[in-house]
Amino acid sequence: MIQFRNLLRVLVFWATLIVINCTSYNNYAIYKVIPETKNQLEFLKSLHEKFDFWKESRQIGLPSDVMVAPQDQQEFENMLNRNNLQYEVVINNVETIIQKQKVETLLTRSSLGLGDVTFNSFMYYSEQMAYVRRVAEDYPDKASVETIGQSYEGTDILLLKISSGPSETSTPKPMIFIDAGIHCREWIAPPVALYIIQQLVENTTNAALIENVDWAIAPNVNPDGYSYTQTTNRLWRKNRRLAEGDACYGIDLNRNFGYMWMFDGASNYSCDQTYAGPSSFSEPESRAIRDWILPNKDNIKLYLTFHSYGEMILYPWGYAPIYTENADDLQRVGELAAEAIESSSTINSNYTVANSAIFLYPAAGASDDWAVGEAEIKLSYTVELPNGDAPYYFMIPARQILPVVQETFQGVQAFHKYIEEEFWTTNSASRMRKFIN
Ligand SMILES: *[C@@H]1O[C@H](CO)[C@@H](O)[C@H](O)[C@H]1NC(C)=O
Ligand SMILES: *[C@@H]1O[C@H](CO)[C@@H](O)[C@H](O)[C@H]1NC(C)=O
Ligand SMILES: *[C@@H]1O[C@H](CO)[C@@H](O)[C@H](O)[C@H]1NC(C)=O
Ligand SMILES: [Zn+2]
Repeated sequence: MIQFRNLLRVLVFWATLIVINCTSYNNYAIYKVIPETKNQLEFLKSLHEKFDFWKESRQIGLPSDVMVAPQDQQEFENMLNRNNLQYEVVINNVETIIQKQKVETLLTRSSLGLGDVTFNSFMYYSEQMAYVRRVAEDYPDKASVETIGQSYEGTDILLLKISSGPSETSTPKPMIFIDAGIHCREWIAPPVALYIIQQLVENTTNAALIENVDWAIAPNVNPDGYSYTQTTNRLWRKNRRLAEGDACYGIDLNRNFGYMWMFDGASNYSCDQTYAGPSSFSEPESRAIRDWILPNKDNIKLYLTFHSYGEMILYPWGYAPIYTENADDLQRVGELAAEAIESSSTINSNYTVANSAIFLYPAAGASDDWAVGEAEIKLSYTVELPNGDAPYYFMIPARQILPVVQETFQGVQAFHKYIEEEFWTTNSASRMRKFIN
């Protein structure tokens, strides 16, 4: 491992000298590997930092998806064979999917007016934020935009607050906090957040959803990384900061949150996909989320963070395979959302609701753990969205944005229903008192 890392350092050094302006994934392959014994499972886990695991499965019988560079494929296959691991090459050239998606994006991009939103193609960051600002401008009575921080490269990170007005009773309105785009290659996540905004603010049929519950939605919190996936490296996951003394760019923002930071399932090596950063909250993007949530934490009753892929609704703890004291509630409410999504799905989505460290592997420093552990928001979920009706992984085609955002909104409404009943309707007694006074 040590030798491999040194070799990697040298390679990275030369690669930066050569400066290729666009990373190619020519002949990179995606392996689906299914462990059948505990030893095989452990062996797969030992490869987590060395290879790019797109999906890690803890349980025997559940597949892992691993992307492997052409020069490593022989070694990888040899290792799998030595351990009698069953595998299948699902995609033998990742670049062909990326190119196909690029062409599709070009074809589907008609002229998008300033401030417009589309769910037929993937938008640029500037377009997404222009939409957020336009919504706030057009609907000042229910939407307001806030800059919650700036990315490392200095781009504003925006949050849209949606509220029909302050509570007229002694009961404050509960709030739902949503973010998307922490991992920038997971392109389907920001459109989900934008669709929620559109449906809550612009679709008057949904007025009841903002009557008693407030919303705070940050639709794309890793702008540097997102732009980088569109210009240079489609499969970039982290932010774009090179920390002092580090060999490689990028901190995994979803390992950078300050609750049980670096406890397990995170790396201290900058070239790894799960690099947790030099310290907890070392990154402006994770700090932006923290600094908005903390002053509002008493009102926030639900934290949702959208990722992809895998069709999973995961809840804490993630740092270790431990259940929170309200795990039954987390499971039950998660299932309500999953059922709502599945029953409206047009792409056969089938969600698993589970504790993340038990169902997957431990991963400390994730935002959902922090939301519970530090911000004391008891209901906190990471939603792993679908990857489309075929294994497109992160490269879900634009034509499947709409079905995903629509079905996910059904799940969000199920979450809302629970929050409203639990934190508003059941407090109607105090509401009555106020009216009588
Ligand atoms: C508005 O919301 C209603 C009810 O949720 C839905 O049936 C309708 O399709 C939505 N309209 C648009 C334009 O999204
Ligand atoms: C990084 O973690 C490894 C073990 O995973 C440890 O041996 C090493 O000392 C750590 N490096 C630093 C700089 O903390
Ligand atoms: C969803 O997946 C589970 C387990 O993989 C399976 O038992 C169930 O039948 C599936 N449901 C649908 C609707 O496909
Ligand atoms: Zn993710």
